[in-house]
Amino acid sequence: MTHSHASSAAALLDWYQAMGVDEAIEDTSVDWFARTEKPRPVAKTPPAREFPQNQPSPSEPRPGFASIAPDEAVMDARERAANAKTLEELERSLSQFDGCALKATAKKMCFKRGSDTARVMLIGEGPGRDEDLQGLPFVGRAGQLLDKMLGAISLTEDDVYITNIVYWRPPGNRTPSAQEVQACLPFLNRQAELLNPEFLVLIGGPASLNLLGTKQGITKIRGTWRTCEIGGKTRRAMPMLHPAYLLRTPAAKRLAWRDLLTLKAALGAKE
Ligand code: URA
Repeated sequence: MTHSHASSAAALLDWYQAMGVDEAIEDTSVDWFARTEKPRPVAKTPPAREFPQNQPSPSEPRPGFASIAPDEAVMDARERAANAKTLEELERSLSQFDGCALKATAKKMCFKRGSDTARVMLIGEGPGRDEDLQGLPFVGRAGQLLDKMLGAISLTEDDVYITNIVYWRPPGNRTPSAQEVQACLPFLNRQAELLNPEFLVLIGGPASLNLLGTKQGITKIRGTWRTCEIGGKTRRAMPMLHPAYLLRTPAAKRLAWRDLLTLKAALGAKE
């Protein structure tokens, strides 16, 4: 390789990295949607897969995804969510749900981390690369910071229940689309209903905006108690700055600390 070829290849790699590409999959892109052979009726669920669900490798065709219209996907999600009697059943049913397009590109589903008897439910934006590899929410760098933040107010994984507004990684860590969120929302609602937490912590802008239905930015609303209609109840919900943002903006950590103390006070007051 000549020097100029090498430097333009390096520049291209820099560009990919800046755009959030952190994984090389194949030389030619694959149109997963074009691979669907026949539309599959939504009501018929595929045979139960291994649980927790592990996705086939990206080189295998994955039937079913493109055939589900968004409203049908939401109806299927609602029916599945309503039929699940426990959090385990809900996770199993979600693993057989094909109505969220993110599933086509993700490696693993990330349903939850933490305790099924927690008083606090934390909801983030969506799995990233590390989460996608491990099948657990908030286990990468941001997750490690989140654990430290919770540790600072004496909370461990046994005291919280952590999930996201979507259960599969958005490609390149982009913000999940409204349609992807809508497809997952019936499961999140039921998850909140079955867990029945006293407090919700909404981590970052997308989780806060989707669940509070406000147009106000996260920097305005962070640290304030709001109400959230979720899981058949009005629950107290506090938006918080996302730990990924705090990693990029360490000066904002003092605001996050203030918000954590607000959460700690609420937990203490009800103990
Ligand atoms: N960021 C999120 O919002 N959720 C995760 O699970 C990981 C990173």
